[in-house]
Amino acid sequence: MTIQDTGVTEFPVRKPDVPFPPPQYADFRDRDGLVRSVLPTGCPVWLVTRHEDVRMVLTDRRISSNPSLPGFPNVAVTGGVPRQDQIPGWFVGLDPPEHDRFRKALIPEFSVRRVREWQPTIQSIVDAQIDAMLAKGDSAELVAELALPVPSLVISTILGVPPIDRDFFESRTKTLVSVQTTTEGERDVAVRELLRYLERLIALKQKRPGDDLVSRLLANGNLEPRELTGVVMLLLIAGHETTANNIALGVVTLLGNPRWIGDSRAVDELLRYHSVADLVALRVAVEDVEVGGQLIKAGEGIMPLIAGANRDDRNFGCPEDFDPGRTTRNHVAFGYGVHQCLGQNLVRAEMEIVYRTLFERVPTLALDTTPDLLRFKHDGTLFGLHTLPVRW
Ligand code: HEM
Repeated sequence: MTIQDTGVTEFPVRKPDVPFPPPQYADFRDRDGLVRSVLPTGCPVWLVTRHEDVRMVLTDRRISSNPSLPGFPNVAVTGGVPRQDQIPGWFVGLDPPEHDRFRKALIPEFSVRRVREWQPTIQSIVDAQIDAMLAKGDSAELVAELALPVPSLVISTILGVPPIDRDFFESRTKTLVSVQTTTEGERDVAVRELLRYLERLIALKQKRPGDDLVSRLLANGNLEPRELTGVVMLLLIAGHETTANNIALGVVTLLGNPRWIGDSRAVDELLRYHSVADLVALRVAVEDVEVGGQLIKAGEGIMPLIAGANRDDRNFGCPEDFDPGRTTRNHVAFGYGVHQCLGQNLVRAEMEIVYRTLFERVPTLALDTTPDLLRFKHDGTLFGLHTLPVRW
């Protein structure tokens, strides 16, 4: 990319020949903590890289998540993802107090207790995907055959999508998140089809409620049916590629660190270590605010770098090492503050079940390529793997 102002730092620094997280993040942390940069869209931003500063940005009420405010960082690669000001109910883009109503309605649906009730469902979905994989032979492409379908099938079951519609649902959500392999036009069609489908699903649940998330939200009456469409769309998008990327990267990391296979402490360390959602928590200052000794003026965009914070050696000893033995719970892989990931208990359950089941049922699992030929996603909003060829 071209650097459009003098004195600003080139960003994004994620490129195929640069490891992730980019070594530049350590320079940013050590040099100034906050770095002025310009996105490929021409939008100026403050990059925030220290753990303490990232947590401050994500909790300070003078800093907003509203993408329709002037100065909000406009990232080029949105992958057909609709914006909050285009769809009611897209609550990740709302600030308190408007945001509180959505959060309050949804928190019970993603509690530890609720996720525990879903464990048998998650287990049977994972088993069925592995059955299908094993039935096909002695090799597989793990992103397409396990990592992407598991979160999509789990969330569609939780939402109450009828089994007969799950193939439609999965294929459209896959189109939506496959930024590299689908065109903008294909993604727009998938967004429109999904929105139409969700409107019909919500109308159906109004007439014939079931024991599912959509029916319960309708029964509570705290959210309007038209807001529910945006809420459900957000749950689908927020939890699909993020979880899939973590599953696939986690398999690679565990294959390289076999002593941690089967240890549940590995999950949070994998989340810290990979920090796939590095660029998702975008913000804009609504008042002048000082972060890490630097004045950010009202109307200036802010990009807290999640991978930067999660590799901050002020907070994690030897942060470049994968070490599930460390205390890792204060990582910010799920963000921090009022927007902290709603699906985090679900993600932990999915990752634990996938790794336990996969390595138990396929003990000879190995990469079907050399590690240097793995194709990483460097150019989207999320970090991950395009494909993961394995054999057994
Ligand atoms: C928010 C990461 C999976 C639903 C967030 C945020 C991050 C994140 C960093 C904060 C965004 C911000 O502050 O602007 C992840 C990662 C995941 C994951 C790394 C997988 C490993 C999921 C799943 C779901 C989900 C499975 C739901 C089924 C949400 C929602 C929000 C959110 C609804 C917005 C919460 C709010 O605004 O109150 N996630 N997420 N996420 N996530 Fe996740």
